[in-house]
Amino acid sequence: MTIPSQRPRLLLTRHLPDAVEERAARDYDARLNTADTPLSGTDIAAAAAGMDGILCCAGDRLDAASIAALPASVRILATFSVGTDHIDLSAAAARGLTVTNTPDVLTDATADIALLLILGAARRAPEGERMIRAGQWTGWTPTQLLGTHLGGRRLGIIGMGRIGQAVARRAAAFGMTVHYSNRQRLPASLEQGAVFHPDAEDLLGVADVLSLHFPATAETRHWLNAARIERLPPGAIVINTARGSVVDDTALIAALRSGRLAAAGLDVFENEPNLNPAYRDLPNTFLLPHLGSATVDTRNAMGFRALDNLDAFFAGRTPSDKIV
Ligand code: DGY
Repeated sequence: MTIPSQRPRLLLTRHLPDAVEERAARDYDARLNTADTPLSGTDIAAAAAGMDGILCCAGDRLDAASIAALPASVRILATFSVGTDHIDLSAAAARGLTVTNTPDVLTDATADIALLLILGAARRAPEGERMIRAGQWTGWTPTQLLGTHLGGRRLGIIGMGRIGQAVARRAAAFGMTVHYSNRQRLPASLEQGAVFHPDAEDLLGVADVLSLHFPATAETRHWLNAARIERLPPGAIVINTARGSVVDDTALIAALRSGRLAAAGLDVFENEPNLNPAYRDLPNTFLLPHLGSATVDTRNAMGFRALDNLDAFFAGRTPSDKIV
């Protein structure tokens, strides 16, 4: 006699690291996407037929229409990301879905990428690398690719959550003075000497390097616009490891093109992967393909955290990272 499986049925929308898929297959009736075919919201709703939960990812567009199209059997969306801007949370809440994310485990990896972008943009590393690859390096010269010295420069951090604080700690080790703006001032133990600006507009005026660390919402769309760029010191550097939509690309590209800004280091873009092509043509951009959390350890930890949340949910407990 075959005993019917009692394991919850779980859709994984993307190919996840092996260790994560192995655990998912061990504990769930898992429907994998081993070919890693990107799925639209409509595709996800169709693939979720008969599923109890979905382990989804940044880039899956779970808008209100896709959520409405999900089968009634689906009760939880566990996203393999800290960001949740790809999910219409109001629609999920209205539908009675639980939504979880993966905070904490990607803080250090993302902060490391922010520092990589700060260093690379300030020291013109992408230009140097391109020069060598193109066979155009004719030798050392005293004035070649002179960049911005970070020691003594002011780093402005907008959004001093976990990742912002981790960036601040790293930047301090490079001799930068840290200024920050946040909804609430941090306690001194977390502030570690950083200068608090209650008004982000005031912070802009002292940000030789500006690093963005706040979520993408309807309110923060194109937050860094032409007027705010104008408040930055001449020759400032802009870093974005948060979400592309918080930057007005047209304004940033114009400021990079005119020399008003020295450089930008960007790991995220509006409409990924179809970024504004002008970024590619500018010499003073350091562009990465959304690598913030892309280490083996971090991606495993993100997957295990998402599975921890699913395990708790299907065991009748409240998942620790429940946001809806
Ligand atoms: C996140 O977790 O939100 C990242 O952007 C995806 O790695």
